[in-house]
Amino acid sequence: MINDYPIFVESIKDKTGIDLSLYKEAQMKRRLTSLFQKKGLKNFNEFYNELDRNSHALNEFLDRMTINVTEFYRNYKRWEVLQGKILPKLICENNKPKIWSAACSTGEEPYTIAMVMNQFMPCSQIAITASDIDENAIMKAKRGIYPERSLNEVPNEIRKKYFTRNGDYYNISDEIKRAVSFKKHNLLADKYDQMFDLIVCRNVLIYFTEEAKNIIYKKFSESLRPGGVLFVGSTEQIFHPLTFGLETEDTFFYRKK
Ligand SMILES: C[S@@+](CC[C@H](N)C(=O)[O-])C[C@H]1O[C@@H](n2cnc3c(N)ncnc32)[C@H](O)[C@@H]1O
Repeated sequence: MINDYPIFVESIKDKTGIDLSLYKEAQMKRRLTSLFQKKGLKNFNEFYNELDRNSHALNEFLDRMTINVTEFYRNYKRWEVLQGKILPKLICENNKPKIWSAACSTGEEPYTIAMVMNQFMPCSQIAITASDIDENAIMKAKRGIYPERSLNEVPNEIRKKYFTRNGDYYNISDEIKRAVSFKKHNLLADKYDQMFDLIVCRNVLIYFTEEAKNIIYKKFSESLRPGGVLFVGSTEQIFHPLTFGLETEDTFFYRKK
């Protein structure tokens, strides 16, 4: 059978600007193959033709390639380290830290950052930029309405303080919402803003090739102010942080030298 994946990758890049060659190939191919087979299509060529003429299918494809799984306080212990060790120092150096939650999915992560920051300052002084490649996810994030399962790791007192129950769903408070501004941003193609005190980017780099990961770590490092911190996911340890001008501050936290 001919391998039509490379041509598919080229065509998708022309159509959407998304470069699938920078995502781990076996994993991405498996996910997309199961999607087109479900539609009764036989190969990537047929799949592309379908995506090209049917915007609904294109949306489904985007949904499948961007894995949006997330929750509030994901890996709770890490957020304790952020609150107890990392933020006090950052805030001491700059009392209005500039924060970026990159690949924020449906908003649980940047809103968690806002709730943690609110332990140190009023919501009106918190400014977090949150971004994702997926516009649907951003729309949900802006809405700020979540099912119970997103709140599994949220301690009771935090639940009471920042959420209002609405049937089976929970609405996040307006003051937390106002602390976060959302925008579309492709980590593999778009420009990065500068002078961040804290960049949180968790559970997305695992989907990228080593080459892409290294480019992104370098760009994150360039986007941090000296002394700024990068917070990564719990399977995303950086093995040679010094290569990127970073040093380990705690497990999964790296400080720009
Ligand atoms: C598994 S979620 C992680 C959400 C959150 N950071 C967390 O740890 O819970 C991965 C997110 O990465 C986003 N993503 C995938 N490729 C991206 C890219 N090239 N640029 C920006 N975001 C991307 C997806 O849309 C998805 O929302």
